[in-house]
Amino acid sequence: MNGKRIDRRMFLKTTAAGALAFPMIVRSSALGKAGTVAPSERVTMGFIGVGGMGTNNMRAFLAQPDVQVLAVCDPVRASEEYGHWYKKGWNGAWFGREPAARIVEDDYAHKAGSGQYKGCAAYVDFRDLIARDDIDAVCIATPDHWHAICAIQAAAAGKDIYCEKPMTLTIAEGRAVAEAVRQYHVVFQTGTQRRSSQLYRFICEVVRNGRIGKLQRALVAIGPNNKQAPPSDWKPMPVPEWLDYEMWLGPAPWAPYHKDRCLYTFRFGADYSGGQTTNLGAHGIDIVQWANGTDDTGPVEIEDLGGEFPTDGLFTTATKVHFRARYANGAELVCRTQEDEIYRFEGTEGWIQVPTYSDEITCQPESLKTTVIGPDEIHLYESNDHHRNFVDCIKTRGQTAAPVEVGHRSVTICHLGNIAMQLKSKLRWDPVAELFTDSHEANTLLSRAMRSPWHL
Ligand SMILES: NC(=O)c1ccc[n+]([C@@H]2O[C@H](COP(=O)([O-])OP(=O)(O)OC[C@H]3O[C@@H](n4cnc5c(N)ncnc54)[C@H](O)[C@@H]3O)[C@@H](O)[C@H]2O)c1
Repeated sequence: MNGKRIDRRMFLKTTAAGALAFPMIVRSSALGKAGTVAPSERVTMGFIGVGGMGTNNMRAFLAQPDVQVLAVCDPVRASEEYGHWYKKGWNGAWFGREPAARIVEDDYAHKAGSGQYKGCAAYVDFRDLIARDDIDAVCIATPDHWHAICAIQAAAAGKDIYCEKPMTLTIAEGRAVAEAVRQYHVVFQTGTQRRSSQLYRFICEVVRNGRIGKLQRALVAIGPNNKQAPPSDWKPMPVPEWLDYEMWLGPAPWAPYHKDRCLYTFRFGADYSGGQTTNLGAHGIDIVQWANGTDDTGPVEIEDLGGEFPTDGLFTTATKVHFRARYANGAELVCRTQEDEIYRFEGTEGWIQVPTYSDEITCQPESLKTTVIGPDEIHLYESNDHHRNFVDCIKTRGQTAAPVEVGHRSVTICHLGNIAMQLKSKLRWDPVAELFTDSHEANTLLSRAMRSPWHL
């Protein structure tokens, strides 16, 4: 375990003045329920990236009685424009560091019944948050091009990490994050929350225990791009006063500001993300890895089946996803764009499928729906709350539901699919060496240069 954390935990555990030593500005009663948890048992957290998902994660961690949120960080101060984007789905909240800090302070004030709480710092630069010795864990929910840098720096500082999917922008970044997590012995949870779903655990156990015979084909049908690209003659816009654009771009190539480059829609810019292949594919492909029992490895072949990319404009990721991966055990995985999003597993003796946003399983034979996995059969990791699971593992130092190797191996397949579609090729992949064995060109796409001064 990291020396710094041992020092803080040991100090808090062993000193009679533990409560006084707790590095907060306020009395513990202001923490409401969290105030009833001994300081030595509290997990202190900082949030890097408090847009849509970061704020959502933050609310989930605020609900944990033994978590205390000490800081948030975002190059967005607060944006009304940004808020409109999410208005319907996200209670009309504005995002950015100031609204996020207010959510924390209002929450603790409400829980204390005092009407007043101060003590959530709001940073522009994540390095200031990571530098704080009193923060045990971070949640990273920035655009994907930042995940690896933030995760590696957090690991080196001994912080446990909840990192949103897709874990990285490139395969090389994923391996570097996995190595850092191992080197610094930190707990890591990838934000693929279907790993903490009873429904998906059941489906994977059905497949793993041979109820559909031998797995032959898995289909991950992902939705098309859900935002309209700006016209191809788009013009740069002035950088809004609420945004530190340099800190948003970071390691990505410099590019003029346009609102559709940044908030939420970064998903469709290949400098920042892998499009729906990594955005939606990261969830479904992760479930295929789980069902196929290939969490620590990957396919041996990847083939473009007709992926399409825009020829110009601001959005540069695939507009039509279609690729196939083949595993050494003979199973194949097809990922494609399709309006009705489903995950489907076909075996030699049956099939099972579920729409991605409902729990209505359809299958053959019908009896699969009520099948019981016996005590001597394969039972997969059980977690029913992804955020709670992370906090529990911080305390036990145990393995999370979606540890770093799992996150890396799943997103690797998304990246492989993007590379195969980009090169319009069928490629051989060595999942041990993590190299293509038949294409130098494809190997050049395993990593990307970072804009100075940023590096892994
Ligand atoms: N698990 C899920 O179901 C799920 C759902 C949605 C999003 N996500 C993931 O969460 C991540 C964020 O997506 P989003 O939809 O919230 O996007 P978003 O644009 O709403 O939020 C990203 C935030 O990160 C901030 N940011 C940019 N650079 C930063 C930096 N250097 N330091 C700190 N903050 C920085 C942005 O300003 C923005 O506020 C993505 O990786 C996405 O794939 C996961």
